[in-house]
Amino acid sequence: MKSLIILIGFIIFISLAVSQTAFAANNTVTMLLEKYQSEGAHQFDANKGKSMWQEQHIQKKTGKSVSCSTCHTSDLRKTGSHIRTGKLIEAMSANINPERFQDAKKIEKWFKRNCKWTWGRECSAQEKGDFLTFFNLNK
Ligand code: HEC
Repeated sequence: MKSLIILIGFIIFISLAVSQTAFAANNTVTMLLEKYQSEGAHQFDANKGKSMWQEQHIQKKTGKSVSCSTCHTSDLRKTGSHIRTGKLIEAMSANINPERFQDAKKIEKWFKRNCKWTWGRECSAQEKGDFLTFFNLNK
């Protein structure tokens, strides 16, 4: 009997922990989307995010054609790899990789770095919001 109670307690604990994590992820993204809107973005568009993800840009330095999917792959559920270092990049899908999109600072840092690397400029608030909406809908 006692072990049954412990088991039930454990199950409740785990399910609370899991829902907390999902909630936290959601919260971070929601907060960022609100921030982007306060910076002048309009309605976000997942389809726009999806097409920007594949959009090819010629890198000034190398003359190579690159896109976000060059490193992350076009399927958010797949593991990518850095085209220069070959280092593996965990899936962008939060369903496959629950560590995704938990930390606003990390998200902003990588947006900045990757937009510059890929597009040769920073992404606008609108573009970042469209990307996050795309990630969120295509977990
Ligand atoms: C040269 C390879 C490369 C390209 C191209 C690239 N990324 Fe990344 N990206 C990375 C690496 C490396 C990380 C950090 C490791 C990780 O989070 O798995 C990362 C992380 C991120 C994150 C952080 C996710 C989180 O969980 O916080 C976002 C957002 C992101 N990238 C968006 C983009 C967007 C948008 C583009 C296209 C404009 C892009 N990336 C292009 C390599 C790349």
